[in-house]
Amino acid sequence: MDTSNLRKPSETGLRRPTILVVGASGILRPAASSLLAAGTDVIAVGRESDRLGDLDASTRGLRTSAALHVVAADASRPTFPAVVRRLLDSRRLRLDGAIVYAPASAPDVIEACVTAMGCAFVEVLTSQAAEPRSTDHQWSVADLPPIEGCQRSRRRRLVLGWQRRDRVPRWHNSEEISAAAVAALVLPGDRVLGSVTPWHDRPE
Ligand SMILES: NC(=O)c1ccc[n+]([C@@H]2O[C@H](COP(=O)([O-])OP(=O)(O)OC[C@H]3O[C@@H](n4cnc5c(N)ncnc54)[C@H](OP(=O)(O)O)[C@@H]3O)[C@@H](O)[C@H]2O)c1
Repeated sequence: MDTSNLRKPSETGLRRPTILVVGASGILRPAASSLLAAGTDVIAVGRESDRLGDLDASTRGLRTSAALHVVAADASRPTFPAVVRRLLDSRRLRLDGAIVYAPASAPDVIEACVTAMGCAFVEVLTSQAAEPRSTDHQWSVADLPPIEGCQRSRRRRLVLGWQRRDRVPRWHNSEEISAAAVAALVLPGDRVLGSVTPWHDRPE
C-alpha cells in the first residue's frame, strides 16, 4: 500500500511519513510490517514487551529505509495520548496517520487521540459494532454513532465483519484486516470489511 499521499511532499519536506499502530504486535502486525517495508516509520504499541520484541526481530530485514519505534503502553489509559506526544517530541517525529485496534483502547481515549494527533485516524472496530438493535433491524455503516466537529475529516472507522467466500463464513485473518486498515488511511469515510449481515450468519 502506497501511503506517500497521506501528506503532500510540500508538507512533509523530504522526511519519511510516520504512522502510529496500536495493536502492532498482534492483529495489526502485518500492517506494521507492510508500512515498514514501504519505507514508512512506524510507532508500534502493545502492552507486552515480548510481543513487541518479536515484531522488532521479525521486521529487521524489512527496514532498509524506515524506523520502528516500539512503545510498551496501555492504550486504554487516559494518559496514553501524552505518552505518544512525549515520544513524538523526544524523537522529533510528526504523525501522518494512526491505526488503532479499538479493543486495545477506550472510546474517550480514542477521541482524545484524534484531537491531539491531528492526522488521519483509522479506528478498527470488531463486528460487535454492527450488532443489530432488534431482529428486524438491518445494520448498515450509517448506524455508527455520528462523528462530531473537526474529527469528521480525520477519523474513519473500519468495522470488521466476516468473510463469506466459499459459502462457509469465517473471521478475517490478521493479514486481511491489516491490509484493509492500511488502505483506510487514505480513504475517508467509514467502511465494513466483509459481511455483517445477516447477523445470525456470523462464524462461531
Ligand atoms: N471480525 C474479524 O474477522 C476479526 C475480529 C477480531 C479478531 N479477528 C482475528 O482474531 C485474531 C486475534 O485477535 P485478538 O483480538 O486476540 O488480537 P491480538 O492478536 O491479541 O492483537 C491485539 C493487539 O492489541 C494489543 N493490545 C491489546 N490490548 C491493549 C492495550 N490495552 N493497550 C495496548 N495494546 C493492546 C496487543 O498487544 P498486547 O497483548 O501485548 O497488549 C496486540 O498487539 C486476529 O489476528 C484476527 O485474525 C478477526
